[in-house]
Amino acid sequence: MQFSANFMPNQETVFITGGAGFLGSYITRKLLQQGYKVVVYDAFVQYSNPIDGFNTEAQIQRRFDGIKDKVVFVRGDTTHKSFLQKAVLQHKPSVIIHLAALPIADIGDKNPDEANSSIIEGTINILNIMKDVDFVKRFVYTSSSMVYGDFEYSPADEEHPKKPKSIYGATKFAGEILTEAYGRRYKIPYTIIRPSAIYGPGDVNRRVVQMFLENAFVDKPIKLHNGGTSKLDFSFVEDVADGFILAAFHPKAEGQIFNITRGEGRQLKELVDIIQKLVGHPLKVEITPPDFHRPERGALSIEKARKLIGYNPQYSLEQGVEKYYKFLKQFYA
Ligand SMILES: NC(=O)c1ccc[n+]([C@@H]2O[C@H](COP(=O)([O-])OP(=O)(O)OC[C@H]3O[C@@H](n4cnc5c(N)ncnc54)[C@H](O)[C@@H]3O)[C@@H](O)[C@H]2O)c1
Repeated sequence: MQFSANFMPNQETVFITGGAGFLGSYITRKLLQQGYKVVVYDAFVQYSNPIDGFNTEAQIQRRFDGIKDKVVFVRGDTTHKSFLQKAVLQHKPSVIIHLAALPIADIGDKNPDEANSSIIEGTINILNIMKDVDFVKRFVYTSSSMVYGDFEYSPADEEHPKKPKSIYGATKFAGEILTEAYGRRYKIPYTIIRPSAIYGPGDVNRRVVQMFLENAFVDKPIKLHNGGTSKLDFSFVEDVADGFILAAFHPKAEGQIFNITRGEGRQLKELVDIIQKLVGHPLKVEITPPDFHRPERGALSIEKARKLIGYNPQYSLEQGVEKYYKFLKQFYA
């Protein structure tokens, strides 16, 4: 059988913690299209300030346009083990994709207790539930490129040293180690994914691409630390969602760790240039001092995912940002 992100309609159930979020909603939509039953287990946490969060609620609603009735939503927190267990036992998923986590490094650094409970405790709970059931055929743990810390070389492959520089990166790495240990001890079939700088329609967490585009629309200065020379592996959300689905079902993904990104390091000032071309006039830019708390990153190697599971991201930064620009523009007309 050929494995692609679009293979085989199916009646199996996929249980997605954090599935109501930005990335989870794309994975959910794609799985429904492929005939899976999807259970979204989500605490509906809001990370951006609701007072400043222009359009936040509407964007969250939009994630499930046309599919709301097809998804089973369970409002619940992964830190509430008995409730989570009840939901897992009720739905008996063959795949669990674990996305639920405090997803922002800066907030994690300011709230280490929240990072700890959301990322570590939530992960331990789900692992403890899985060790006692036999119906889960794959557990997908969502890590982050932040586990690497400052890149010592680029593209960084999965073997790159892990020296996280933030509470977020450290707790995500702890979740990886726990997943591997439970996997060995209790024979839980797992796959670990390290995404980076995901962007696209539907994000409300005010990450860099969203912030730059929104500032461009309202003519607010875009802040560029150190002149925007730092590089990120910007990854369009559709590509990342395809990568997750491949990793969740491909037999060769079992027991593996994958970088799932675009596979290119692009400077933040290049992002400004791309947006400038789209809006058609010069943008206001404010150069600010370097931010030494953020790791110096760049391209991640996606060769392992390409070779083993056929991951093949489609969107260049130019193409992805144009899609995102067109989507956001309608709200700023
Ligand atoms: N977006 C990125 O650039 C990026 C990069 C690397 C890794 N990740 C990881 O990918 C995952 C998804 O991120 P996203 O961008 O979709 O973020 P998101 O905030 O849009 O989605 C996270 C979802 O998890 C839910 N959640 C959080 N804590 C929970 C808990 N304890 N119990 C139940 N639900 C909870 C939230 O309500 C939210 O719906 C996260 O694990 C994040 O750390 C994201």
